[in-house]
Amino acid sequence: MEKINEIFETAQKEIKKAQTLKKLEELWIKYLGRKGKISLIFSSLKNLPPEERKKIGKEANLIKSKLESLFEEKKKEIQKRLKEREKGKKIDVSLPGERIKPGHLHPLTQVLDEIEKIFERMGFSVVFGPEIENEWYNFDGLNIPKDHPARDLWNTFWIKKKKGSKKYLLRTHTSPVQLRYMERHTPPFRIIAPGRVFRFEATDASHEIQFYQLEGLVIDKKISVANFRGIIEEFFKSFFKKRIEIRLRPSYFPFTEPSFEVDLKFPGKGWLEIMGAGMVHPKVLLAGKLSPKNWQGFAFGLGVDRLAMIKYKVNDIRLFYSNNLEFLKNF
Ligand code: FA5
Repeated sequence: MEKINEIFETAQKEIKKAQTLKKLEELWIKYLGRKGKISLIFSSLKNLPPEERKKIGKEANLIKSKLESLFEEKKKEIQKRLKEREKGKKIDVSLPGERIKPGHLHPLTQVLDEIEKIFERMGFSVVFGPEIENEWYNFDGLNIPKDHPARDLWNTFWIKKKKGSKKYLLRTHTSPVQLRYMERHTPPFRIIAPGRVFRFEATDASHEIQFYQLEGLVIDKKISVANFRGIIEEFFKSFFKKRIEIRLRPSYFPFTEPSFEVDLKFPGKGWLEIMGAGMVHPKVLLAGKLSPKNWQGFAFGLGVDRLAMIKYKVNDIRLFYSNNLEFLKNF
């Protein structure tokens, strides 16, 4: 009897102290569960003489039902408190806040920033030109007159022409910035012009309809292909922080003579064309209002996305424009 009362006393205290439904359930299991303290009393009754069995059984039943109503009361009390809290009457200011994940710059922006920094260290200025260009800066002034077959090298997004206005287009390369800069500045100078360009063509793993180029232009008295090679090798060394295999191929651009293309080794995938370049054509100097008798220089157009592909070992250019967070979080 004494033991039963003892159990009841502690159970009563513990129920009173319980603050959560979880705690209450634990206590229920401890006392009234299948292996709980009260249940154990019932299962031990069979070992007692009939007289005592009757007395103790009665007492245990009484305590069991008392505990049941205590549990019920406490449960209601906790539920009521939870409801009130939900209504917004109480805010638990001690709970930790939700962590805000900071974003970061897009991998292409990071690469552009880095390229600019390297060229600035070599004395280049960064300049910009418009994404919507007129036909003259994108083609004619660069020695690509109308009906010139070389216009087919760049499939163009043309903008609907208004009566009497110039013909506008989305620039197919950053080379028009060369002309815009030459017109307004006196050499010697060295500039880079990064920006977005557009081509009306099918996409694949290394071609997008919109991508980034970085134009370079160096004009001075005595500038040669050797200077170009020197600068570009220095650039790749700084950018990749290790030696990387470069290949110069003779090529054709209407605005440079001689012209070449530069390929880089894409580990495991062979060569990837990275840039077009050459010595600025005398006709382009003239279009830029500079005298070819006094000035010469080189120009190049670098594919920024392709450079990012090699740097980060990304094998499909389209991933950069996919807005896929799982991809972007890697940088
Ligand atoms: C040009 O656009 C010339 N304006 C480059 C130039 C500038 C030559 C100055 C001489 C002097 P090209 O079309 O080859 O050239 O493009 C240059 C680079 O842009 C390519 O080497 C390649 O790296 C990148 N590129 C070209 N097309 C795409 C495309 N669809 N998607 C992604 N990158 C491209």
